[in-house]
Amino acid sequence: MRKPIIAGNWKMNYGIQKTIDFLNDVKGGLSYDEVEVVVCPPYVSLSSAVNILKDTTVKVGAQNMHWETSGAYTGEIPGEMLKEIGVEVVIIGHSERREYFNETDDTVNLKLKKALNLGLLPIVCVGETLDEREKNIQKEVVTNQVKLAFEEISPENVDRVVIAYEPIWAIGTGKTASNEQADEVCGWIRETIGGLYSNEIGNNIRIQYGGSVKPDNISDLMSMENIDGALVGGASLKKDFIDLVKYK
Ligand code: PGA
Repeated sequence: MRKPIIAGNWKMNYGIQKTIDFLNDVKGGLSYDEVEVVVCPPYVSLSSAVNILKDTTVKVGAQNMHWETSGAYTGEIPGEMLKEIGVEVVIIGHSERREYFNETDDTVNLKLKKALNLGLLPIVCVGETLDEREKNIQKEVVTNQVKLAFEEISPENVDRVVIAYEPIWAIGTGKTASNEQADEVCGWIRETIGGLYSNEIGNNIRIQYGGSVKPDNISDLMSMENIDGALVGGASLKKDFIDLVKYK
């Protein structure tokens, strides 16, 4: 049984005070046993989020991490420091990190290994650009990202990873992939994991869809065979996030 997982990626929004106000407002509504719920505020707001959510089932995630433990990496935060403040989840390889901060499939793989070593729940993001979709090479692009992310990841660790399929052309644009488009790619991802490991492991891995998920499209997306959750940007900053989490 794949438990649905819905994560809010706040991106560069909500400092400490807004985090406290927002989470106090929504935390009752977000505590919901049927879905694993995660919020991912910016680094400076993580401790406040952990503190406010400590008596709830809602988990706190970071939007990125470094794979080294310490050292001369100005501006970076290692997984160990995230663990120390009670963070349980980490987003890895979001398309905005790949596009604006030179994140590569190699660094995604290093971060994934480190997150698993530390016992953080990684959400690994993959997805094609509009240009790649127009050239009809999305299958190749996405399955390749998955293969490179999972290099040297052992089979027993795979079900501790969540994959988020986010077509870049659907992020923050208001354009959602159709249910069929989203499910098709999530199916290819599942097959790829099945091919790398086993059908059982492929069947067990949780795959989210992300890209303009809103209260009015989430139930249809979640009803698709291969979609087990959502990675939500804009709509996770509003009280509507409760409706997303309670999509059933
Ligand atoms: P969006 O962002 O929901 O605002 O499209 C999704 C994401 O980038 O994770």
